[in-house]
Amino acid sequence: MKNHILIKNKIKSFNRKITVSSDKSISIRSILLASQSIGKSEISNLLESEDVLNSLKIIKKLGVNYSKKGSIYQIEGYGLNGFNIKRNTKINAGNSGTLARLILGLLVKSDKKVKLIGDKSLSKRDFSRVIRPLNLFGVNLKSRKNCLPIEIQGTKYLRPITYNENIGSAQVKSCIILSALNTPGTTVLKCRKSRNHTELMLKFLKYPIKIKKNKNFDIIKVKGLNQIKGFKYNIPGDISSASFFIVLTLLSQNSQIIIENVNVNESRTGIITILNKMGANIFLRKKTLYNGERIANIHVKSKKNLFSINCPSSLNSSAIDEFLIIFLVAAKAKGISKFNNLGEMNKKESRRLDLAVKFLKLIGIKVTRFKDNIAIHGNPKLILTDNFQMKNFLKDHRIFFLSCIAALTLGGKWRINDRDSINTSFPSFLNILKKLGAKIN
Ligand code: S3P
Repeated sequence: MKNHILIKNKIKSFNRKITVSSDKSISIRSILLASQSIGKSEISNLLESEDVLNSLKIIKKLGVNYSKKGSIYQIEGYGLNGFNIKRNTKINAGNSGTLARLILGLLVKSDKKVKLIGDKSLSKRDFSRVIRPLNLFGVNLKSRKNCLPIEIQGTKYLRPITYNENIGSAQVKSCIILSALNTPGTTVLKCRKSRNHTELMLKFLKYPIKIKKNKNFDIIKVKGLNQIKGFKYNIPGDISSASFFIVLTLLSQNSQIIIENVNVNESRTGIITILNKMGANIFLRKKTLYNGERIANIHVKSKKNLFSINCPSSLNSSAIDEFLIIFLVAAKAKGISKFNNLGEMNKKESRRLDLAVKFLKLIGIKVTRFKDNIAIHGNPKLILTDNFQMKNFLKDHRIFFLSCIAALTLGGKWRINDRDSINTSFPSFLNILKKLGAKIN
């Protein structure tokens, strides 16, 4: 089967209600925490994408069984460190940095060696950010220059750590929190702001974790060795997936959309703040709280006049996966938009900051870059008519989604490779676009 798509026409105006795929970060965390709980957990609306299915495969390989009853996943845990690991176990996190970093946190006490591998993209990513704190816990890891494959050998003699997490990485923070579960005493973390689903889920599970929020950082204290009981969790929609439909609507003509039941935890809603500062009118309606997470329907209408932004870096972590699509809005906005300190973008599934600059230049937008800061010279009249080909983006799902939205809102004739990259996070992406009227071959 061919693995590329062709888009030759802009999308016509639409007015629809949609739901997007379930939250990837929360899906992965729910599986990993269920694997450490005592008894049965039931997870509904689990995202069935590759990153999440790899999480299920990994816990199974580590001795925790799961089954699917109707649409509900049931996971039978044996409590903390309840894995039953065979000799020479190899686990594969595929494309997922989150899964790879978090699972290491759950292996800190294992008495057998485990080898962690990943796909081509994940194997290029740096793991020193988790190896460092794991070593402080007393855990032994062998790697090839801080990259996968990594061999982890747990220890009975874990010691709690006091750690300053200053990247602003939820993956690092979560890896440390999960390590702390199996460690006697209290682990103390001072961390820069990042998505807080792990902490919220542990609170919901009544685990003894304390969080003190300050303006720029949080202090988190985790008491080790407390058990979690099996739980039920219903996963909400993913704002990172919704973001592509938010921008599709914003940049199309006379269109509107309601995206139902999306997680709008404020550590994730940077895109809404940023786009509203650029002149969009994005509203959250029917707000509810679910186990500490905020959920809402997102309402968006097309907007003709959008303005540039000088984006405060304090919003970076809450929009880190959305900057690619935010840059597309900046390309159509009046004025020069500035985004600073985005080095973390180059540490994702692909070197996203480098690719974004290439992409914007490809569509005829002037971009100036100084180190990890970029300035995008917007052109509200931007219309494309040429042929474009997107390839060699390390199968980065978000680059694929970005290319589709650019094609459907700016025009041009596009051939976009690596269609299967959508399975990483959002398998129904193309079907939803088609339902909205997009012509995709
Ligand atoms: C994620 C955290 C973010 C994000 C990634 C998912 C998570 O990475 O980019 O897509 O689920 O914890 P960092 O924590 O490394 O910034």
